[in-house]
Amino acid sequence: MTLVFADWMADVQARVETALTRALPAAESIPARLHQAMRYSTLGGGKRVRPLLAFAAGEITGATPEALDAAACAVECIHVYSLVHDDLPCMDDDVLRRGRPTCHVEFDEPTALLVGDSLQTLAFEILARQKGIDVARQVEMIRLIAVASGSCGMAGGQAIDLESVGKSLSQPELELMHALKTGALIRAAILLGALCGNAMTDVERDALDRFAKRAGLLFQVVDDVLDCTASTATLGKTAGKDAAAEKPTYVSLLGLEGARRFAAELEAEALDSLRIFGNRSRRLNELADFIAHRKF
Ligand code: IPE
Ligand code: IPE
Ligand code: MG
Ligand code: MG
Ligand code: MG
Repeated sequence: MTLVFADWMADVQARVETALTRALPAAESIPARLHQAMRYSTLGGGKRVRPLLAFAAGEITGATPEALDAAACAVECIHVYSLVHDDLPCMDDDVLRRGRPTCHVEFDEPTALLVGDSLQTLAFEILARQKGIDVARQVEMIRLIAVASGSCGMAGGQAIDLESVGKSLSQPELELMHALKTGALIRAAILLGALCGNAMTDVERDALDRFAKRAGLLFQVVDDVLDCTASTATLGKTAGKDAAAEKPTYVSLLGLEGARRFAAELEAEALDSLRIFGNRSRRLNELADFIAHRKF
């Protein structure tokens, strides 16, 4: 029996929660404060969009849930690290994340810095200790996530974000910033998920990559829109921060309606890329729709 999307999503979210609970160091193990802060930041919150994308992409290539656990956890660890650092006073200076005080508020700044460092290396440890996977595939997954997180990926996008405060960027400049700071890791989640299963043809790989790039950009365009349309209570993070901090966003560039139209175009392009997969991409289609129309 095929699950409806909401049930499939809840199943994957619960599975990933269990896998992350096991992958993280125990709360009482030394250094306990750091391990508690890692667990505080990672567990019990978040939409788990990147793990969901990995599982959905794995359905295209027939990957098993067991094989997908590592990819999903690794990507979520990098994502949480990026959030913990993004919230630090030297970056976005946010006090609320996933409906709770941010890591540096609940613990302290040095701990938050080390949580990010430790989650980043844990991601690589998880991928490196995977069993029953072809070694060449394993190295490719490690390489993909490394590039997606580093100076030519997420960290690079964050650098552009910080140096763009108070500036108005052109659309290609903004697209690059978003593609790096958010798109790169979303793309990695999708490609890693697919790599957990059978090999794809070149045509399939190109189509999935095209989808991944559009979905990644779409995710951040919607984040920009939600920052100025949703409430703090709904988002679980402080609303209205982008305008207050003078960040260039799709809303500042195109206006609210323009950003919404652009999101709709990106969703249509993303869905179009999936057509060659037929029913195998059902979950990715549903996730693209979720990403485009989410309320938080
Ligand atoms: C927020 O990501 C940060 C961005 C890259 C825009 P999510 O909206 O996926 O945050 P969680 O994981 O659900 O908290
Ligand atoms: C965050 O972008 C991107 C990363 C965390 C890498 P934002 O700064 O817009 O994310 P939120 O809005 O704080 O979640
Ligand atoms: Mg930021
Ligand atoms: Mg932020
Ligand atoms: Mg934002």
